[in-house]
Amino acid sequence: MKKIAIITRDCAGVNAALRAVVRTANKHHIQTFGVIKGYDGLIDSKFITLNRSSVSGIVNLGGTILKTSRSKRFFTNDGQKKAIKNLHKNKIDGVIVIGGDGSLKGAHRLAKRTKIPVIGIPATIDNDITGVDLTIGSDTAVNVVLDALDKIRDTATSLERIFLIEVMGRESGYIAMQVALAGGCEEVLLPERKSDIKTMCEEIKQGNAKGKSSWIIIVAEGRAKAHDIARDVTFITGLETRVAVLGHIQRGGHPTGVDRILATKLGHYAVEILRTGKTDVCVSIKNNKIVTIPLSRATQRKTIDVTETYKLIKLLTK
Ligand code: F6P
Repeated sequence: MKKIAIITRDCAGVNAALRAVVRTANKHHIQTFGVIKGYDGLIDSKFITLNRSSVSGIVNLGGTILKTSRSKRFFTNDGQKKAIKNLHKNKIDGVIVIGGDGSLKGAHRLAKRTKIPVIGIPATIDNDITGVDLTIGSDTAVNVVLDALDKIRDTATSLERIFLIEVMGRESGYIAMQVALAGGCEEVLLPERKSDIKTMCEEIKQGNAKGKSSWIIIVAEGRAKAHDIARDVTFITGLETRVAVLGHIQRGGHPTGVDRILATKLGHYAVEILRTGKTDVCVSIKNNKIVTIPLSRATQRKTIDVTETYKLIKLLTK
């Protein structure tokens, strides 16, 4: 193997993975090329040479230094043909894709349509990759939300208010569930669990009658819009509500230690596995050991079992 290309999406820890890929590959005398703007860059043949010094000082940076895109073109036959042609034209003999569900689906398509080995590294704040316990970026996202939540709680307590905090996770309640547990929140609304707003409001009314004066309710974006829930809560309980939609602050920022370590190990492993000629898999860590998961499986949406954690959240706050 002489030349590998790296395609990235953005979330905290992606740069740390990129650094590990480049430096591991260079140690094996493999040249490394970054693809600018994700799959769009592959279609437009936008490659840059990466070496040891191009990835220095990035282990702590959020986002991706390669920039990225949500490429619609790549998910067409024509786009994929152009992308593969560019890989051959540039004599690329290995590809590493760092990203979430969409990126890994793209990696799977590439692996199916070419003989060039393709390895995925799961990186998404949603932590929704099947077979993967923890994706790069999700620990940072949980910590970013907890930091915001702790600050919001100060006002919620001081002003005796009900706060609804909307957190990311397109179809996944992972961030919501983790922060509700770690932040001591009274309620969490998840896409994975049916919940009745009227019952929740009844609980609030009863609590309020006994003297409880503030609530923090986490709303996963995949479940509902926090503004809509807030309107219903005020209507049913007659109590004042406030909303905070945290949005993209959850995807950026300096990666936590957990994410940097995970990204560094997975980046290193991905190169080692690519060198063996293995393809169409993504790498992950289980019981401190590297494992590979077929991309066909990894890209089937993961659903988390929220039952036990939800019970614990309620047990500790009721
Ligand atoms: O998949 C990661 C994620 O951050 C989701 O949690 C969120 O719903 C989505 O991406 C937002 O996408 P965009 O940045 O394209 O608006």
